[in-house]
Amino acid sequence: MNLLITGAGRGLGYELARIAAARGHAVAACIRSAEAEGELAALAERYPGLVRIERLDVTDETQAGELAARLQAAGFALDAIVNNAGILLGRGGGIASLELDEVRRTFEVNLYGPMSVAKHLTPLMRDGRDGAKIVVHVASEAGSFAGAYGGDYPYALSKIALSMFTKQLNDELRPRGIRALAVHPGWIRTDMGGSSAPLSAAESALGIIDLIEGTTEVPAETWFVDYTGRAMPI
Ligand SMILES: NC(=O)c1ccc[n+]([C@@H]2O[C@H](COP(=O)([O-])OP(=O)(O)OC[C@H]3O[C@@H](n4cnc5c(N)ncnc54)[C@H](OP(=O)(O)O)[C@@H]3O)[C@@H](O)[C@H]2O)c1
Repeated sequence: MNLLITGAGRGLGYELARIAAARGHAVAACIRSAEAEGELAALAERYPGLVRIERLDVTDETQAGELAARLQAAGFALDAIVNNAGILLGRGGGIASLELDEVRRTFEVNLYGPMSVAKHLTPLMRDGRDGAKIVVHVASEAGSFAGAYGGDYPYALSKIALSMFTKQLNDELRPRGIRALAVHPGWIRTDMGGSSAPLSAAESALGIIDLIEGTTEVPAETWFVDYTGRAMPI
């Protein structure tokens, strides 16, 4: 398969790229900087034919269009897109001290970013059969009514909007045999999740790659699951 992953330089995005390449998939690993460093650079060296580094700040729609043009010119048709890049700002401070600019910045990355990527990159996706092609949105239990706990304004609101975007996109793309799936990755040990999280990014990424490959099956009517494929309440 050919996969595109945003925010692939660290955390869950890096683990998704690493596991996908280890399983023989070709990966367009998207990062904000012009050149990969550290473990992603090493991964590209280890899998020269499989891992291509692409520049994409998801808040820059021009870059999304340029990326689509580059991939098209290279004949890199997509089987899966993973909108993984995300930020967490202003959690727990309370409404009285909320910085509305943090809400705007969060929506730029967590919602408008995936929308811009879907707008420019889903036209490059091959049509599938029975939902075999997939757009994964890395969502969050925190961005669901069932999992809401109060005070998490920028992040929770952006992620529940991302889930609605997933449902809208899923229904639009179904005739092409492409499904969109919102996936809660679990609470994972990354810069965002912190060191106390119970789950490693690698365990979560393994589950998400199984979902992408279809080894973990999800019923056609389901569009919000966790990394194991278990349906999540919205
Ligand atoms: N960690 C958890 O427990 C948890 C739980 C539920 C959901 N999630 C979701 O899982 C996803 C991955 O999170 P993580 O834990 O791996 O977070 P992380 O370690 O903080 O990594 C975030 C990634 O997003 C990228 N990013 C941020 N802003 C970007 C932009 N404007 N354009 C492109 N890339 C950008 C970062 O790139 P730079 O290196 O350039 O900053 C980095 O690669 C996120 O969507 C997050 O909301 C995480």
